[in-house]
Amino acid sequence: MPQKKLRYGFIGAGGIAGAHMRNLARRDDVEMVAMADVAEPSMQRHGEQFGIKGRYADWNEMLAAEDLDAVSVCTPNKLHEAPTIDALNAGCHVLCEKPLAHSAAAGERMVATAREASRKLCIAFQYRFNPRTQFLRRAFEDGALGNILYARVRALRRRGIPNWGVFGRKELQGGGPLIDIGVHVLEMAHYAMGSPEPVSAAADTFTYIGDKPSEEIESAWKGWDYKTYTVEDLAVGRIRFANGAVAHVEAAFAAHIDKDDWNFELFGDKGGASWNPPRIFTDEHGHMMDKSPGWLPNTAFDGMFTRKMMSFVDHCLYDKPTIAPGEDGLAVQRMLDGLYRSAESGGAEVNIRAD
Ligand SMILES: NC(=O)c1ccc[n+]([C@@H]2O[C@H](COP(=O)([O-])OP(=O)(O)OC[C@H]3O[C@@H](n4cnc5c(N)ncnc54)[C@H](O)[C@@H]3O)[C@@H](O)[C@H]2O)c1
Repeated sequence: MPQKKLRYGFIGAGGIAGAHMRNLARRDDVEMVAMADVAEPSMQRHGEQFGIKGRYADWNEMLAAEDLDAVSVCTPNKLHEAPTIDALNAGCHVLCEKPLAHSAAAGERMVATAREASRKLCIAFQYRFNPRTQFLRRAFEDGALGNILYARVRALRRRGIPNWGVFGRKELQGGGPLIDIGVHVLEMAHYAMGSPEPVSAAADTFTYIGDKPSEEIESAWKGWDYKTYTVEDLAVGRIRFANGAVAHVEAAFAAHIDKDDWNFELFGDKGGASWNPPRIFTDEHGHMMDKSPGWLPNTAFDGMFTRKMMSFVDHCLYDKPTIAPGEDGLAVQRMLDGLYRSAESGGAEVNIRAD
């Protein structure tokens, strides 16, 4: 009997959709059938490169016409909810790009729809597929760190305001560096600390560079659209978890710092850990010990991205377990949502418990 192929579609065919396509093209058991995007040039480029024939301006037309098994949702953040819900209701499994949504309420509706429709919803968090993150999660599960007391989370760029896409537009993205890049480091720290339930958040945000012309200072991504820039340059926040742990989060597109910083550190009562470099700090043999793995598989971006895509296909076709369920995306969304709500109300602590 011929192998069943996963009939696959894409909603949003821009930059990151291309990375999904490049990886899915490796699989004999995936047939890339169609894509929907409001911009014809992206569809044409990707259609020719990957031999994807179906091209639609409206994702609902694609869902009605193509009898798809699964889709990747790769639209701007504000447009994650509607296509995800439409695709789930059309019978598709969904891999939604990060962040899950632009708000926790939207994320809740997405997760609820997946349950009601009995379809799989995964969040495209590739960083938890990074061997460093797997190493730290395993160390936590083995008890090497004890109880996590504190996590220090940083996604800081000295000057890295995107000069493409709509990353500076709050109404389309839901926020700036916190929701765009902070989400990556926050999700892997949360995963490595055993996914505790977040209960409250407090934050402050600052805008002081992105809303001004970029021309005067040399930097790699000059020319961002400062006139439509309505997001923060820097966010600093604190999250409390039901088990008593606390996380401090810093995220910036632009900050006056020495260099970019992409890392998290865990402080446990038995041991500590850092992601970059991947290390564990403990007391053993009468000494304070620093331990690091002797070998790790490919930790580069491509490696973890490929693992994320392969895992989703295996989850859909062969029912293999996923480490990136929509529920984990929702937990992170609650944190992001609470941090932004707090910042909007002057920095007071807000409740982010699930109802
Ligand atoms: N996992 C990662 O590392 C990663 C990296 C980059 C982006 N992303 C996420 O992927 C999403 C897209 O980012 P991108 O960098 O690909 O942006 P992009 O601007 O390159 O692509 C977005 C695409 O969505 C299309 N679009 C807009 N409105 C639409 C609509 N109504 N219907 C159909 N298509 C529509 C645009 O025309 C565009 O082609 C964002 O949520 C972003 O956070 C994830």
